Order: sequence, then structure tokens, then C-alpha cells
Amino acid sequence: MEIDYNLLMLTAKEASKMSYSPFSKFAVGAAVLAKSGKVYSGCNIENSSFGMTVCAERCAIFKAVSEGEKEILAVAIYSPNEEDCYPCGACRQVMYEFQGDEEINIITEKEGKAIVRKMRDFLPFGFKIGSGV
Ligand code: THU
Repeated sequence: MEIDYNLLMLTAKEASKMSYSPFSKFAVGAAVLAKSGKVYSGCNIENSSFGMTVCAERCAIFKAVSEGEKEILAVAIYSPNEEDCYPCGACRQVMYEFQGDEEINIITEKEGKAIVRKMRDFLPFGFKIGSGV
């Protein structure tokens, strides 16, 4: 499938506007392209009980999976607070779970340009039950 990286980044940007982050004031938006071709957006949602916070990437992935998606082709991440904003370790693990035959593309933005990297750059030797040798 042809992936429109700029559209995904635009969707992540729009989603970051919905961020509920009164504590960190660090807004994040994400956009997930599922194998079906559908795009799901998400934002970080914080909580007064800080540990309950959910990252933008997991929000978008959980939306996708709860709509029946099982494979993810790309995840775009955007923060107005930081250029080239990378996914946290927990989100990398959650992404890895939904990697199918095609490796997930992870999209960030630097100097206004979409940067595309591969899942393996962020999580080499990832853990998934059933994928070992
Ligand atoms: N955050 C994300 O949404 N995604 C990440 O990958 C890193 C961190 C959020 C969580 C929290 O609301 C804020 O950024 C500061 O950590």
C-alpha cells in the first residue's frame, strides 16, 4: 500500500490539539495507518493520578484495535513541544505487538519534513509471544 506520510503527520498534528495534558503541558498527537487502509488518531490523556496517563500512540492504537484492526503499517507522532518526537518505550512495545508481515513505519517531523524510520530502529529484538525461534 502506498503510504501518505504527510497526511499521517497532518492527522497527528490535528490530534495533538485534542491533547489533555494540563500537568505536563506536553501535547502529543498520533495517527495510525491500519492494514485496512483506515487512519486512527489519538492524543495523550493525562490524569490527576499521574500513572493513569495514556500516550497518544497507545490511544490511537487502542482505537484501531478496538475497531477490529490487527495489523499496523505506520504510526505518525507529533508534538508542538518537541521536534522529531519519539515514541516512549511502552508505546514501542505496544506497536510491536501489531506489526504484521510488513514492518511498521514510524513517522516524526523535523524542520517541517516528515522523517520515516522503521520499527526495528526503535525496537530491535522486540518481544512478541510466538515470534521467537
Ligand atoms: N507522551 C506521549 O503521548 N507519547 C510518548 O511517546 C511520550 C510521552 C505523553 C505522556 C505525557 O502526557 C506527556 O507526553 C509527557 O510525558
